[in-house]
Amino acid sequence: MEKNIIWDTLWIDVNLATFDDSQVPYGVIEDAAIAVQGDKIAWIGSQSDLKAPYTDLAHEVHSGNHGWIMPGFIDCHTHLIYAGNRSQEFELRLQGATYEALAEAGGGIRSTVLATRAMDEKTLFEQSAKRLKVLLSEGVTTIEIKSGYGLALESEEKMLRIARRLGEQFPVNVRTSFLGAHALPDEFLNAPDAYIPWLCDVLLPYLHEHHLVDAVDASCEHIAFSFEEVKQIFSKAKSLGLPVKLHADQLSDSKGALLAAEFQAFSADHLEYISEDSLKAMSNSGTVAVLLPASFYYLRETHVPPINLFRQYKIPIAIGSDSNPGTAPTLSLLTTLNMACILFRLTPEEVLRGVTVHAAKALGLQETHGTLTPGKIADFVLWDIERPAELTYWIGYNPVVHIVKSGKIVTPV
Ligand code: NIG
Ligand code: FE
Repeated sequence: MEKNIIWDTLWIDVNLATFDDSQVPYGVIEDAAIAVQGDKIAWIGSQSDLKAPYTDLAHEVHSGNHGWIMPGFIDCHTHLIYAGNRSQEFELRLQGATYEALAEAGGGIRSTVLATRAMDEKTLFEQSAKRLKVLLSEGVTTIEIKSGYGLALESEEKMLRIARRLGEQFPVNVRTSFLGAHALPDEFLNAPDAYIPWLCDVLLPYLHEHHLVDAVDASCEHIAFSFEEVKQIFSKAKSLGLPVKLHADQLSDSKGALLAAEFQAFSADHLEYISEDSLKAMSNSGTVAVLLPASFYYLRETHVPPINLFRQYKIPIAIGSDSNPGTAPTLSLLTTLNMACILFRLTPEEVLRGVTVHAAKALGLQETHGTLTPGKIADFVLWDIERPAELTYWIGYNPVVHIVKSGKIVTPV
């Protein structure tokens, strides 16, 4: 008898954590199956609803051995491309030097800028690829990568070109953010007021013209850029039709989250010192709160972001690794999830929503990514775990079995 095959791939013997908006915790469907057609999820449901023999339904049938399938992780805040490392600064910080004092003395971001400018594109690509692979091995299928260690035309372009190439050469969807307003570059130390006008009139338009920018980020902080300067950048981004996001209220309440909300930013990130007024504004603008527990941990910060207020104002919370050489030298999103539970007292479900459905929203990808929903891109991971919360529980253990990117198995990455 002729088979009436309808799907490319069918995964059976799995439990699903869909993270859809059903009221079920984690959007769980137990004893389930998931089908893929092309690069999209074609069907999800109870395995018992499948009538024909499985091999009649799909060209390939895989058993998940009763593990869990979840959406691929989305790391919505990284500074993955840089040269060198700052372990020397780490030692100084352990002896009592502060992040701010090191930055003011020419260390911090500016020292990474010098190293990144000096490294040729091929070597910088290879070093960044090495780090990317580690992140991907823990189930990341979409990543945001920022510029911001070039701070000059050629070097910002180099970083963003590398980000694009990483997305072409590895099984990951890369979204770029232009972070020209990360720190003041050395050439402008004598004319600090000239940097933002140059960034707005020359640097950003050039990179945008070369299709290297998916969103515009900035750092609004007393050691970085002011409310007014960020406003100029955001206005420029808006005039170019680019979405914005912001490093805000990390070290002090700089009203950054308020500004982000005014510009309907995709996200405001860090937010340890956010005020309630800014929070209210965020809840009206749909801006996602991206929390970054790894930098909180490395800076030995003690001021926890106001989690209960985020809950009260129903602001979606996402979690990012913030992977960077200064405040978050980590390549493990799983460890970051554990930190979010332990340090911020977020629940395992909040944390897992924070790297799936809410992280998708933080990148403007909510229509296509972040949940297991028919019609969305088939980016998902099969985990050898007994319950979803297990992913936030271990440190140093990676229970990935398979990573599926755009419908295809890509493990080992
Ligand atoms: O997200 N403005 C802060 N940027 C990074 C730190 C980057 C660095 O220190 O190199 C952050 O914490
Ligand atoms: Fe950051």
